[in-house]
Order: sequence, then structure tokens, then C-alpha cells
Amino acid sequence: MCAQFYEDMEEILLESDAIQARIKELGEQISADYAGKEVILICILKGAVIFFSDLARSLKVQCQMDFMGISSYGDGTKTSGIVRIAKDIDCSITDKHVLIVEDIMDSGLTLNHLTQLLSSRNPASMKIVCLLDKPERRECVIAPDYCGFIIPNKFVVGYGLDYLGRYRHLSYVGVLKPQVYTP
Ligand code: PRP
Repeated sequence: MCAQFYEDMEEILLESDAIQARIKELGEQISADYAGKEVILICILKGAVIFFSDLARSLKVQCQMDFMGISSYGDGTKTSGIVRIAKDIDCSITDKHVLIVEDIMDSGLTLNHLTQLLSSRNPASMKIVCLLDKPERRECVIAPDYCGFIIPNKFVVGYGLDYLGRYRHLSYVGVLKPQVYTP
């Protein structure tokens, strides 16, 4: 059993079992919606990687996987809105059904930028699935097509989400104690 770092958490927001149960539901819903179609799953690195791998295994439709490296410059706890593409997808999405897989939608600026970019490549369809949504933080008009959980405006880590690169490997989502990220 790997270390779970409970001592760094103020609160456990989503236990591992709850996350897995919700992903199973999302997988069923997405599989039904895309029945008979092939989907290109695009994982937005790095935060989505854990969710992506669990969600992909819950799907019953044919799919392909690709990966996009995006990062936004910020102070470690919030996004600046300035997005940098570090790695583009390898495949063509023209006339394909695209499902963008994200860990969290916060200001929405990252996905707003990304959907505009990918739309210009003329996919047959494009939808967003994100595990976590913080709608009260939104700074543009965008919403996920599929959402795992709506969460409050707290700084969360785990299950892909990091603080300075750490905590991504946790199986749960927790709220970090402020003293961990304030000097
Ligand atoms: C996080 C997350 C989203 C984005 C959401 O990525 O994975 O991509 O921020 O924030 P927004 O809605 O305010 O734009 P981050 O830049 O932290 O990179 P990471 O996934 O590599 O941790």
C-alpha cells in the first residue's frame, strides 16, 4: 500500500470508492451516448492521467487514446489563463468524435482555449468530460458535457491533481492543509 499522506489533508473530499463508483456511472453514460461510434479520447496532461486511465477502462465503445500536454502559468494554486501547449496530439481528429478528458474545470480558461483550438481541426463532434467542476470559479462561458462531481472552491489535490507536482498519485481527492502551501 502506497503512502496516502492523510496527515497533509484538512479534509478528504472524495474517497476512492466514491470516485470509482462515479467513474463507472460516467462510463455507462458515455458508452450509451457513443454506441456504435469510435471515440478519440484526449487526455490533458498531466492532471487527467489517473482519471483518464480509469475512465477509459470503463468504456464499452471502441476508442483510441491520444495525449496533449497543456500547462498554464500560475502560482501553484491557481491558473493564470495563459495556456502553453507543450505537446500536441499525434492523430488527426478531422471527422472524428473527440472526447476531451480533464481532471478539473476551474476558471474554464484552459478548456476554453483548447476547445477553440481543436474545433478548428473540424472534428465530427467534441465533448468534454471532467472529474471535478468548480463552477463558482468560472471566468468564461463553458461547462463540461459530463462531470463527475461539482466541488466547492477549495484547493484540492490527489487523483491526478497536484501541488508543486506532488500528491497526484493519491487514490482520493483531499483538501490540503493551508500550512502545507503557505510558508
Ligand atoms: C489544471 C487542470 C486543468 C486546468 C484547469 O492544469 O488540469 O487543465 O488546471 O484550470 P482552469 O479551468 O482554471 O483553466 P494545470 O495547469 O495545473 O496542469 P497539470 O494538469 O499538469 O497539473
